[in-house]
Amino acid sequence: MKTILLNLTVIALLITVVASDTPATAYTNHTVGGPAGWSFDAINNISATNYSSWAANQTYNLGDYLIFNTNTNQTVIQTYNETTFSSCTTDDASDDDTFHYNGGGNEFGQNVTIAVPLTTTGTNYFFSDAEDGLQCQRGVAFEISVNRGLGLPPSLNQPPPPPYIEPPGPETSQMTPVNINGGSPEIDNSALRSVANMRFLLSPLLIGVTSLLLAF
Ligand SMILES: *[C@@H]1O[C@H](CO)[C@@H](O)[C@H](O)[C@H]1NC(C)=O
Ligand SMILES: *[C@@H]1O[C@H](CO)[C@@H](O)[C@H](O)[C@H]1NC(C)=O
Ligand SMILES: *[C@@H]1O[C@H](CO)[C@@H](O)[C@H](O)[C@H]1NC(C)=O
Ligand SMILES: *[C@@H]1O[C@H](CO)[C@@H](O)[C@H](O)[C@H]1NC(C)=O
Ligand SMILES: *[C@@H]1O[C@H](CO)[C@@H](O)[C@H](O)[C@H]1NC(C)=O
Ligand SMILES: *[C@@H]1O[C@H](CO)[C@@H](O)[C@H](O)[C@H]1NC(C)=O
Ligand SMILES: *[C@@H]1O[C@H](CO)[C@@H](O)[C@H](O)[C@H]1NC(C)=O
Repeated sequence: MKTILLNLTVIALLITVVASDTPATAYTNHTVGGPAGWSFDAINNISATNYSSWAANQTYNLGDYLIFNTNTNQTVIQTYNETTFSSCTTDDASDDDTFHYNGGGNEFGQNVTIAVPLTTTGTNYFFSDAEDGLQCQRGVAFEISVNRGLGLPPSLNQPPPPPYIEPPGPETSQMTPVNINGGSPEIDNSALRSVANMRFLLSPLLIGVTSLLLAF
């Protein structure tokens, strides 16, 4: 019975996708929060808009970008780890599944635009950990599900961040370079290249983007 229901759901979803006037024929840029941008309303102590309902109203594919129109009072944290997302903090987060996009400003309230490419299918979580997690707790957070769509475009074809691979030994860090962790050189090289790609992609667009901060 469950299987039948699931199948019906899948069929219904497929019909919806087919019937929709936006099949994946191009890459899409999603402006996070629409006109509200990525912001926290300090006066009312609540997110500037309902980011969950904004997020639920769109379809996401590999190669799409999320465009965060924000200011330096917010942070943009991307994680693939539900625990990290739920906790609203990066304190215990791993470098392998959690990324901090830095708008480059070092003063409060400076406007920045941060473009985050979607490079991994499945659930992606986003939140602002500013004000010790308060912004996230008060709604500056959302999750999306990324579909394959057209697949990654050549410019993003080495997904930054590299996929998490279970380390072979207990003390092995994913971020230690090349020869230490016994991974194949190809994988390590692509990981390095992909980070470089990120810089290349983001830096012309954003004033002073410093790329991913790989440690918190
Ligand atoms: C989407 O955003 C990216 C990154 O800012 C940019 O390179 C690209 O031109 C944008 N695409 C569209 C269709 O606006
Ligand atoms: C905002 O709401 C949180 C509870 O979610 C509360 O702890 C905090 O004191 C509030 N801040 C202000 C300025 O009202
Ligand atoms: C945001 O919208 C979702 C439905 O999309 C709803 O479940 C949720 O309660 C809303 N959050 C707030 C804080 O209103
Ligand atoms: C959802 O998207 C539709 C079509 O793009 C739009 O008309 C509607 O206002 C959106 N709803 C929300 C809650 O953003
Ligand atoms: C998710 O992150 C938490 C810390 O926030 C960590 O304890 C846990 O091992 C991570 N889960 C996975 C699957 O990596
Ligand atoms: C940013 O935060 C500072 C310090 O809390 C505050 O004075 C300022 O009004 C905020 N700016 C914006 C645009 O939210
Ligand atoms: C920063 O962004 C806010 C909200 O979009 C806008 O009202 C303000 O004029 C912008 N400030 C500057 C200096 O561009």
